[in-house]
Amino acid sequence: MGIIDSPIRGSGIRLRNRKLSPKRGGSSYEDSIPYVEDLGVSIIENEQPIQFTTNINEHIHRWAPYVQGFSASFVQSQLDRYRDDYNDPIILDPFAGCGTVLVQAKLNGYRSYGTELNPLLEFISNTKLNTWDVSPRYLLRVYNSLPKDKKSTAPTFLKSSSHFNKGVLANLERIKGGIDSYIPKTEKQRKVINLIKVAFSSILIECSNLKRRPCLGYARNKDVEDAAPIVLLYQKIRNIADDLEIICSAYHDYVSVESKVFLANAMEYRHSQKYDLVITSPPYMNGMDYVINYKIEMGWLDFADDQKDLKKIKDSMVVCDNVSKGLIREFAKTRNVYTNEWLKEIKSSIHRNIEKRGSYRRLDMPHIVHKYFDDMYHIMANVVASISSGGRFILVVGDSLIADTYLPTDLLIAKIGKELGLEIERLEKVRERRSGQIRSYRLRETIITLKK
Ligand SMILES: C[S@@+](CC[C@H](N)C(=O)[O-])C[C@H]1O[C@@H](n2cnc3c(N)ncnc32)[C@H](O)[C@@H]1O
Repeated sequence: MGIIDSPIRGSGIRLRNRKLSPKRGGSSYEDSIPYVEDLGVSIIENEQPIQFTTNINEHIHRWAPYVQGFSASFVQSQLDRYRDDYNDPIILDPFAGCGTVLVQAKLNGYRSYGTELNPLLEFISNTKLNTWDVSPRYLLRVYNSLPKDKKSTAPTFLKSSSHFNKGVLANLERIKGGIDSYIPKTEKQRKVINLIKVAFSSILIECSNLKRRPCLGYARNKDVEDAAPIVLLYQKIRNIADDLEIICSAYHDYVSVESKVFLANAMEYRHSQKYDLVITSPPYMNGMDYVINYKIEMGWLDFADDQKDLKKIKDSMVVCDNVSKGLIREFAKTRNVYTNEWLKEIKSSIHRNIEKRGSYRRLDMPHIVHKYFDDMYHIMANVVASISSGGRFILVVGDSLIADTYLPTDLLIAKIGKELGLEIERLEKVRERRSGQIRSYRLRETIITLKK
């Protein structure tokens, strides 16, 4: 969440289109007016820090960095806001990511559940949620006892020799060899090795010649010392041990509170209970690729063996704008997909604008946009069915500008919620963003609160 529209890599035509765009200097504020009026709502200003970056100093949340997550303080503010409305609420995040919502709910003593399609993120979330009873001393003991003379080879489908300097790579292979040689036989051993794996995954980008800001790419002038994996991993293990100490003293009563992320598609997962609060942030249209961005960690932790594995996971997610063309071709042929009058007009406008421009990074963009809302409709319908009466569905989304067409994602999501029988309780603008296509165009990020 919380990213800018994906930037256009500029060719001459693209640059010209950008310069001639009628949207230069514009904003979602004025372009939303007809939709706001049609829906009969208003958007209130409520700026606040909502992005994951602040979590790097927060216990447990800091175990694994995640660019697209919520800030713990945002989740806490939502839990506090409805504290008096529910008795011991049950929380759901259908797009669990690295588990920020669930971890924060558990820190309040609430049961929390989630679904997540990326197996790395599901693993990280469940480890952050279900290792609170590991003793810090045991973690340090197991970590120190891992052999240093074993070696596992780097994932073969990744370009590890360009991702890492030679000495760094050799150290990573030795650390991974030590981890792989530890075969857990008890639940306690499984938990401790999972913590070490989370720590290992969380240092990989820092040790590499890459950066993630927010998309993964090569970092210029990054100088990584050969010993970085050893130093950073030890620091991370110490952080985790310190947090386990705090859990033991301050959150002891909540250790056994049930929290779980299911490796499942939010569209299909059949929930076995009702939820009082759903707090979530879906992928943004025109936004982030949640598989390619984490391919390094997925490869090193054995969650993907080749590019095919990555593509398969990506194509089952809510679409982003570099989803496979075949998937969109199939979708374009499908009948009985979700639509409404706004979407029809938006699709035609994108289509017309692409024709006028003569080029665009994806000519099938109108169908990608359509599939995004079809995916969201089905996920929302599935979630709404498992919200208890009086429960709330809170979504944070960002709007987009696509080929000079304004896409009011927040208002479309609110409209879908209304069509599914929910009341639109509140729309709050939390942050201003800039369009990656036309930097002078101002977009927004919105909290949508729907009530059953
Ligand atoms: C914006 S992130 C959520 C971040 C989360 N709120 C946090 O703070 O960690 C969206 C997540 O949805 C996941 N996702 C995308 N499509 C999905 C689907 N159909 N079912 C379940 N998860 C999905 C992505 O892998 C990604 O981790």
